[in-house]
Amino acid sequence: MELEAKKYYALLARPVVVITTVSAEGKVNAAPFSFNTPISFSPPLYGFSCNPKHDTWANIQETKEFVVNVAGIELGDAMHILEQKFPRGVNELEKAGLEEVQSKTVKPPRVAKAIAWIECKLHSSYEIGDHIWVVGEVSCAEVKDECWDGVIDVSRVLLHISGEFFAQEAKVTKYRRAKK
Ligand SMILES: Cc1cc2nc3c(=O)[nH]c(=O)nc-3n(C[C@H](O)[C@H](O)[C@H](O)COP(=O)(O)O)c2cc1C
Repeated sequence: MELEAKKYYALLARPVVVITTVSAEGKVNAAPFSFNTPISFSPPLYGFSCNPKHDTWANIQETKEFVVNVAGIELGDAMHILEQKFPRGVNELEKAGLEEVQSKTVKPPRVAKAIAWIECKLHSSYEIGDHIWVVGEVSCAEVKDECWDGVIDVSRVLLHISGEFFAQEAKVTKYRRAKK
């Protein structure tokens, strides 16, 4: 099956994250993202791809911090609210009835219902294609105890495929590695 080249991303299931940010005035914003990945161990760098018109990007330029809230399957139902284009300054977490908790190292709050949190300070950004590649230096990483057993409990992770299509119920498998 050959796809249109621009549909390539539908071949890669990606973890869904909700990025929380605040404006210079301190107004909270939240939006789902799935074009995202770790980049570097040392320094610990994380990246995601953001449409330049998104409030998320406007806030990051203003306050240079964001929280990557790793979405569990419990957040699936909230996607259709969080992804809506509300006017700047509207808190999507309130619209979705999601509780905020204070972050440890940055101003934007965590989403309480997420399964893990990666707090970031803006490291750099790059215009690439029709998106901005936003790179954050990780200042804190934390996972809910019940979602951690040496590795993250992937059965709880929400993955995005494309549009309204998501995947869930993955399972952990261990493959042997070559001895170093
Ligand atoms: C599961 C999911 C994944 C998404 N991934 C991205 C993404 O990687 N990059 C992006 O720019 N928008 C992505 N979006 C769209 C934004 O979340 C959406 O346009 C949102 O309204 C932007 O909000 P903001 O203007 O408050 O930042 C995604 C939406 C959903 C539902």
